[in-house]
Amino acid sequence: MGTSKTPRHANNMPTQRLSADALGIAEAVDLLRSGANVAFPTETVYGLGGDACNPHSIAGIYSAKGRPSNNPLIVHVADEAMIAGFAEFPEVARTLARAFWPGPLTLLLPRQGHALAAAVTAGHDTVAVRIPAHPLAQGLLRQFGGPIAAPSANPSGAVSPTSADHVLDGLDGRVAAVIDGGSCEVGLESTIVSFQHGQVTVLRPGGITLEAIEDETRMAPHVIATPALEPVAPGQFASHYAPRSAVRLNVDFPDEGEVWLGFGAIASGLKPQLNLSPDGDLEEAARNLFDYLRRLDFEAGEVGRIAVAPIPHTGLGLALNDRLRRAAAPRGR
Ligand code: TXA
Ligand code: MG
Repeated sequence: MGTSKTPRHANNMPTQRLSADALGIAEAVDLLRSGANVAFPTETVYGLGGDACNPHSIAGIYSAKGRPSNNPLIVHVADEAMIAGFAEFPEVARTLARAFWPGPLTLLLPRQGHALAAAVTAGHDTVAVRIPAHPLAQGLLRQFGGPIAAPSANPSGAVSPTSADHVLDGLDGRVAAVIDGGSCEVGLESTIVSFQHGQVTVLRPGGITLEAIEDETRMAPHVIATPALEPVAPGQFASHYAPRSAVRLNVDFPDEGEVWLGFGAIASGLKPQLNLSPDGDLEEAARNLFDYLRRLDFEAGEVGRIAVAPIPHTGLGLALNDRLRRAAAPRGR
């Protein structure tokens, strides 16, 4: 880490699939040290990792994803001690960290010093930080011994990956390797929280619910509800997490020619192609969302249309509805 070696991986070489064990982790660490990019599972979605202190490695992430250079990355660390090298850690942030780390929560902290490659924060004076809970992500971070920058491992604007196969669908030949750790437990990205003017602000709803944050902080978090035109977080661009098909939301009765993604109990006589959770369980629905969108996109074919049943707007439902709104938003960037 911290070197400026050029990556060992040449573009267009097939992406290596690494095993979910100590050997796979050791190979991934070697690649990261050489400046190459390695996708790895977290409990939320697969991340596309690079040495957060190596500018070549970070440039490789932006290029593999086709990500706009003004869209900063999340820095993953093994523990709080690793944060001291590059960010401040205010008390209000520590309160949330104590409650939810390791886990699907990302905190925007004031950047400090010059240890990180500048492109990681893309000109922002804050840095997004997370301690992931997935044992393979933890193992990788510990063996590597330094911060790993990792956006979701998908081409920019596309649906996030919740399996190694999803990663390869989008990025085969564009990254050195992927550690195959099976399906992601949470299935939706982390909740992103900032601390502006003493106020806990949720920039992206995710795996940690507003209710849980409110319980911990005794403050109702402020939620940035509508995507700004000039986004604070480019995850807030209107169209994002988008399949190829057109997506229509809150559909109880699909039109002819639509494939239908159900949720919960279905009116008799109707049958959705897939049901996010027949029992109406939001956690199960979160785990299935991205995989089912990909499957229905395939099933819908060219100029396909996907209709989605209504999903309750509580708990994880906020994050589910957020991703679905972005999947349904008019394209055009
Ligand atoms: O669960 C997750 O968060 C996954 C896993 C891999 O950790 N990562 C992820 O990264 O979803 P990504 O890059 O797909 O989404 C991160 C979002 C982006 O919308 C980015 O704009 C925003 O976080 N972000 C990163 N740093 C920021 C900063 N300093 N200020 C504002 N937004 C920031
Ligand atoms: Mg993403």
